[in-house]
Amino acid sequence: MQLTTSYPQLNTPVFAPDKSKINGDFTHKDILSLDQFTVEDLHTLFGLADEMKQLALHHRPSSLLAGYVVSLLFFEPSSRTFASFASAVKRLGGETIEIQNPETVSSVNKGESFEDTMRTFEAYSDAIVLRHYRAGSAQVAADTASVPLLNAGDGNNEHPTQTLLDLYTIYKHFGRLNNLTCLLAGDPLNSRVIHSMMRGLSLFENNRVYLLSSEQLRLKRSDLFYWGERGINIVEIDHEKDIPAYCDLWYWTRIQKERFASPQEYERVMKRGFIVTPELLRARAGKHTIVMDPLPRVSTVDPAVDTDERAVYFREQIRNGLYIRMALLALVLGRA
Ligand code: NCD
Repeated sequence: MQLTTSYPQLNTPVFAPDKSKINGDFTHKDILSLDQFTVEDLHTLFGLADEMKQLALHHRPSSLLAGYVVSLLFFEPSSRTFASFASAVKRLGGETIEIQNPETVSSVNKGESFEDTMRTFEAYSDAIVLRHYRAGSAQVAADTASVPLLNAGDGNNEHPTQTLLDLYTIYKHFGRLNNLTCLLAGDPLNSRVIHSMMRGLSLFENNRVYLLSSEQLRLKRSDLFYWGERGINIVEIDHEKDIPAYCDLWYWTRIQKERFASPQEYERVMKRGFIVTPELLRARAGKHTIVMDPLPRVSTVDPAVDTDERAVYFREQIRNGLYIRMALLALVLGRA
């Protein structure tokens, strides 16, 4: 399949990948979707992430990935996912091949096919971390390359490692991943982060999700039905006044500008955006509600909220990304 540079349209379906379940054995698995994980798999990962945190915080040298090379191929812009994967490999003593924007700096620019690019990097590395604007590209890459493929976000489909770090953050905070009342705001239609999060939350019992968005950015009806069937209690709201007072967490996502057919369409939708402000927190959040944001912060959270102790995006969430990715790489490469 030749991947083009055109961006998927708004209604690209949530891609259901051909998943290979982890079921207690991470070694050599591709990580494409949250659907591959069981509750036990998550706990294995979280336990190792705790250890990785100690290693990183105390600057303990590690040679766990010594002799291993990981390719980071990012066809879409990234700060946190790219840097945390790079840092994770390096902190474990491994090496990286780092290519941001392969379309200008690699042979993709000369017209090389996506598959040939994957075949090339599999020859030089022990795992490939891929971010791509096309939903389903991670599955195509995994089918092509024999080394483990880690999906760092494929179009509007999934972003499993983001959800792994988010679930870890929630678990460390509340000591549970069931019986949660969550507010997911912003762009349920296009946010791959929300799509993976719904899959993650559906692994646990009695989770209720309030989805706050404008009418145009609601989940596709088939997805709403699908996740409802999987046990999540979903309530769609389109106004701040309907946010329940007892949420455990607020998870704010930006409206995904790059998924719109035109800048005008994006501007139209942005007119009814939702932003976390100190006033909104005062009015609608609980004492223990945590505020999460996968970042980048683009009309999601007012910087005045940063000093509120309930805001965990900089203090915990992005840092947990490093520990989770260290743990995941060690497991997938069979080193833990
Ligand atoms: C997210 C992404 O790229 O999907 N960011 C991230 O990886 N931390 C969210 C976003 O871009 O809005």
